[in-house]
Amino acid sequence: MTLYQRLYINIDHVATVRQARGSVTPDPVAAALLCERAGADGITAHLREDRRHMQDDDIHRLATQLTRGFNFECAATDEMVALALALRPTEVTLVPERRQEVTTEGGLDLVRGAAVIGAAIARLKRAGVRTSLFIDPDVDTVERSHALGADAVELHTGQYARAAADPRTLRALAASATAAASRGLSVHAGHGLSIENVGPVAVIPEIEELNIGHAIIGRAIFVGLSEAVREIRAAMDAARPHSL
Ligand code: PXP
Repeated sequence: MTLYQRLYINIDHVATVRQARGSVTPDPVAAALLCERAGADGITAHLREDRRHMQDDDIHRLATQLTRGFNFECAATDEMVALALALRPTEVTLVPERRQEVTTEGGLDLVRGAAVIGAAIARLKRAGVRTSLFIDPDVDTVERSHALGADAVELHTGQYARAAADPRTLRALAASATAAASRGLSVHAGHGLSIENVGPVAVIPEIEELNIGHAIIGRAIFVGLSEAVREIRAAMDAARPHSL
């Protein structure tokens, strides 16, 4: 069992504020470096095909300036895989992308997408880049992730968050985490997590890493970014004490 659970912070939401004005501030890379100093173990950033928030230049700057982990989130397209191979982040998380969606609404479809996702994983693996698949918490999908050669899965906690921590959604997360770990996959989780709902997810023993963005950036408006990072870290640690 992993005692220490990593906190990765998704900083796309800082870029969303910048893009709303077509300005140069707030700079998501400066925010990322502040998150690192406040205790984040890594930074997650999603370069979408439509470039609605993060821009190519942001991703390049993150890859060169971050001193801890860098989780590059992208669709399994040739363009994004080529970029990942050039940047060599700590890990790549493959996600589904639909143009009309407000955020990543569901996990990857590993039935229809098997060939494309399997090929992307193989290209990344040959270059020694770890790959995580963002999936719905479902044991069958965990098995497919393993069969496709993924190194990790990120369990989508959106349904858990929307269902106000309904125990059924929590059981699905726990069962998927156990299934993934028993197949040797690293287990991550994220989407919609906040100080209020992170506890029951943080205690799932197999989950090594949480990816949290919107709640932290929203909270930062009131208490500042460093304090918002410390608060979420404290909520994780209160649920799952660890010794460093
Ligand atoms: N993980 C993935 C794959 C995501 O797409 C997102 C969305 O930003 C997150 C985690 C973080 O979700 P949130 O911003 O709701 O915390």
